[in-house]
Amino acid sequence: MENYKLPHTDFEISRLIFGCWAVVGGFNWGHQDKKDSLDAMREAFDNGITTFDTAEAYGNGASENLLAEALGDKRSDMIIASKVGPQDFLPDDVIKACERGLKNLKTDYIDLYQLHWPNPEIPLEDTMGALQKLKDDGKIRAYGVSNFGNKSLDICKESGFTISSNQMAYNLIFRAIEFSILPQCVEDNVPILCYSPIMQGLLTGKFDSAEQVPDDRARTRHFNKGRSQSRHQEEGCEALTFQTIDKIKKFAEESNVNMGNLSLAWLLAQKGVAAPIVGGRNADQVRKNLKTMEVKLTADMVNHLNEITLPLKEKLGSNADLWQTGGRVI
Ligand SMILES: NC(=O)c1ccc[n+]([C@@H]2O[C@H](COP(=O)([O-])OP(=O)(O)OC[C@H]3O[C@@H](n4cnc5c(N)ncnc54)[C@H](OP(=O)(O)O)[C@@H]3O)[C@@H](O)[C@H]2O)c1
Repeated sequence: MENYKLPHTDFEISRLIFGCWAVVGGFNWGHQDKKDSLDAMREAFDNGITTFDTAEAYGNGASENLLAEALGDKRSDMIIASKVGPQDFLPDDVIKACERGLKNLKTDYIDLYQLHWPNPEIPLEDTMGALQKLKDDGKIRAYGVSNFGNKSLDICKESGFTISSNQMAYNLIFRAIEFSILPQCVEDNVPILCYSPIMQGLLTGKFDSAEQVPDDRARTRHFNKGRSQSRHQEEGCEALTFQTIDKIKKFAEESNVNMGNLSLAWLLAQKGVAAPIVGGRNADQVRKNLKTMEVKLTADMVNHLNEITLPLKEKLGSNADLWQTGGRVI
């Protein structure tokens, strides 16, 4: 496994991060077997994935609990990234949320504590001040942000707080951050942690058409607003999405590379990307995703993937919110 040193930290993360959202099942994911979840996390750790991304929001603490159960005895050899939700951005609430996280995770420090989504109602400097206090007190080792657009990143920079990462939706069929957020992050030395890097399974080729995608996963702006769980007002671009997926699938076959691995390797080849955060619901998926580290893409392959996904990138535009029509990624 390759590792990556985040700025303003004294630790390295693994270049594949295990995402601990789907392992709790429920919203977005449906039924999940607990043993499969524990096996998936242990398989990841045993094969060099040291870094785990979780959040209080994933099952109201259940994901943090599960991580402690799976790997509690490995604490000193792992990196835990967790998040505080925007409803808790008042300074006192940030501290309380962190205390709850520590309790759920059965640990006395979190390595990377991230602001889950921007909250324009609360001055960011105040929230950042609370993160700095947690760092000074040794409760967290570093802090980062998530779903932060250009304006919020500007505030971070101007106020002199040293963020170590920005976690954003980024994958071959959702390239919105390339318009202005990724360039700013590169300029400001804020590495990207990519969430939904295989587009919640779509980039493994498991769905052949929009109709096959379950409603809770078809909430994204690729799909028509008529889907039952949709929270946007857009027509979507289902035909273009599946034409693009088809082209990626064919290219993966021609290149003799598994499609999911190809998609993750493309992210690893992007300047400014520290690591994809990939979910896995069982050990077998984890083993398959780990093979990404054996894939080496040539510049021509990266360029070809850029070209075949460009029309979809242009159609979905610069709104980096996967699910809503605008305003949340600021
Ligand atoms: N900051 C944020 O706002 C935010 C938002 C979303 C996610 N995240 C983080 O990012 C992580 C990953 O994102 P994500 O879970 O949305 O999407 P993802 O990693 O793109 O997709 C994960 C899902 O794809 C399927 N899958 C995984 N490996 C597979 C394989 N080898 N073959 C076939 N299917 C496979 C599994 O679901 P099925 O088996 O059910 O198909 C799995 O749950 C989350 O766990 C979370 O930590 C953060």
